[in-house]
Amino acid sequence: MDHFPSKPEQIREELSKHYDLTPSQKHIDATKDIYEKTDRVISKEDWNYFAPYVVAINTLKKQKNAVILAHNYMTPEIYHGVADFFGDSLQLAIKATEVEEDVIVQCGVHFMAETSKILNPEKTVLIPDLEAGCSLAESITAEGVAEMRAKYPGAPVVSYVNTTAEVKAASDICCTSANALQIVDAMESDTVIMTPDQYLAQNVANESKKNVVYWPGSCIVHELYTAKDLKAHRELEPDLKIIAHPECTPEVVAEADYTGSTSGIVKWVTDNQPKKTMLVTECSMASNIADQLPDVEFAKPCNMCPFMKKITLENILYSLHTMTHEVKVDPKISAQARKAVQAMIDLSKTFTK
Ligand code: 13P
Ligand code: SF4
Repeated sequence: MDHFPSKPEQIREELSKHYDLTPSQKHIDATKDIYEKTDRVISKEDWNYFAPYVVAINTLKKQKNAVILAHNYMTPEIYHGVADFFGDSLQLAIKATEVEEDVIVQCGVHFMAETSKILNPEKTVLIPDLEAGCSLAESITAEGVAEMRAKYPGAPVVSYVNTTAEVKAASDICCTSANALQIVDAMESDTVIMTPDQYLAQNVANESKKNVVYWPGSCIVHELYTAKDLKAHRELEPDLKIIAHPECTPEVVAEADYTGSTSGIVKWVTDNQPKKTMLVTECSMASNIADQLPDVEFAKPCNMCPFMKKITLENILYSLHTMTHEVKVDPKISAQARKAVQAMIDLSKTFTK
């Protein structure tokens, strides 16, 4: 049973009874090496506030034998300050199969925590805020998958990991933005059903020999970008390198110099070191890599994911302190969903060979 105070001040009051959260030189000294990785985007004043939380979380993690898996969209104080491992959805799913600790704190959204639980039914998986959802995961249910199967009999269902455990359980295999095209191309059937992201599916269809049919879901963050705006930015700054996530519309993807998963984006920018780039994705991506790429200028605009931004240092500490919110998946659904996730992991390992 969760007893999570609804107000941030209640959480803070409770935490301050157990942890030294008053900014001090001691905390600043203890986190000096971490701050150096993010001082281009976090001011000293802000770090004074974050440092006590970073110290408390890193100490508590050891006491509870916990590991923090963080998505690339976490804010820089989480990404650099407390994450033991960070990456895109595929990397996080693979990492979840390898962790030895008893507790996983998933710093990302709910479907990511569910995926970790599906792959580790015996471990405790925590998510610091239950409202960290996803517009894609919310757009389809298992009944929606059944509807698609009835419409396209015999076609395999490839579901994005951005789905609930029930939807994964109703699917043949999962995919992420890092392997979607290869997974679809590996299906034997000529027609392949993709759920729930219509734009990821259309972007895959543009490069695949398969007849890709899809569910009409979308990401509320990436659908905001328009090709018209990107063209206007490029006209103003002809040297600008535009890098997009495949949840953007095909028109936006056509305007981009490179399209890839969040880790693909990090790799492209690191390998190519453009003078000026615009990451057509969630805002924290640029902030998290800004320090390691001092010669790259990151142009705004970017869009925030309101779900990812539900995760804060404060609720991570509270989650680990109280061992809430524990993510649970019905064992039957979990066993069925695991087949779809594991099929993706196994197949994607053959792609990199
Ligand atoms: P990645 O798998 O590319 O990290 O994307 C996950 C996501 O939710 C993007 O919006
Ligand atoms: Fe979901 Fe979009 Fe947020 Fe990713 S960025 S978690 S797809 S709403």
